[in-house]
Amino acid sequence: MDFKKIAIITGGSKGIGAALVRTYVKHGFSVFSLSRTAAHPHPAVTSLLVDLSDPTDALNALNPLLKRISRLELSEIVFINNAGSLGDVAPIEKNTPESIQKTIALNITTPICLSSSFVKKLKDCKTSKRILNISSGAAKKPYEGWTVYCSSKAGLDMATRTMALEQNSEKEPVKINSIYPGVVETGMQRQLRNTSEKEFKNVKRFIELKNNDGLLTPTEVAEKIFHLDTDAVLENGAIVDIRQL
Ligand SMILES: NC(=O)c1ccc[n+]([C@@H]2O[C@H](COP(=O)([O-])OP(=O)(O)OC[C@H]3O[C@@H](n4cnc5c(N)ncnc54)[C@H](OP(=O)(O)O)[C@@H]3O)[C@@H](O)[C@H]2O)c1
Repeated sequence: MDFKKIAIITGGSKGIGAALVRTYVKHGFSVFSLSRTAAHPHPAVTSLLVDLSDPTDALNALNPLLKRISRLELSEIVFINNAGSLGDVAPIEKNTPESIQKTIALNITTPICLSSSFVKKLKDCKTSKRILNISSGAAKKPYEGWTVYCSSKAGLDMATRTMALEQNSEKEPVKINSIYPGVVETGMQRQLRNTSEKEFKNVKRFIELKNNDGLLTPTEVAEKIFHLDTDAVLENGAIVDIRQL
């Protein structure tokens, strides 16, 4: 395996993450996927199995890898916080404390912990270093039934902006961005379409998008994210909606 170009992708087993794994591999990257089930097998892909809703377990999976990577002479490395979940799609009084905690941990606590470790352990690495946070338009627009999801994505965007600001004064900075992938046909959309209107008032909109071929495919989204990342068009701290490109 050529360890010159590395991509570490959370949630590389399904949906957008699986498409990101395929895309980065296609472009010559060695890829590490962190999720509960393995990414599609490929000689350039290593799967680390971990439940990312536990930030300590997440760090225990990532840190030994970062230690190994910090000794390599890389030409570039990207860390993509992609794993995420809607949690309970329902009015807030129907969300259980356990589900709220796990969803917040998966969508924001773990991405911040892993980003912190990435920045720290690769501080002296003189190479192109990037963090991409896969966020959502739900960070800006409230949807009834999505309190936890919208809040966690809004928090993730602020983490992007704050960490990016800190990096501006670093000698070997990490570039950090948030990306909104649009509405993409994945397991997450299937979960949404199976929710009752009582729990999620906007369900019809998502069913109509599917019926009218209005959904993006994971592959086209992953290609767009890849080019945004590697064509160096993103300003540090920018939050980009790929539908507006
Ligand atoms: N699809 C959309 O329309 C859409 C729109 C806006 C934003 N997004 C964002 O895009 C990202 C990817 O979403 P997707 O639509 O591709 O979702 P998906 O098809 O449901 O895939 C989610 C991925 O996250 C991983 N994951 C979930 N819970 C995990 C856990 N506890 N520990 C470790 N890994 C976990 C899953 O892997 P395992 O099951 O193997 O653990 C899977 O690989 C998310 O951050 C989502 O918020 C999606």
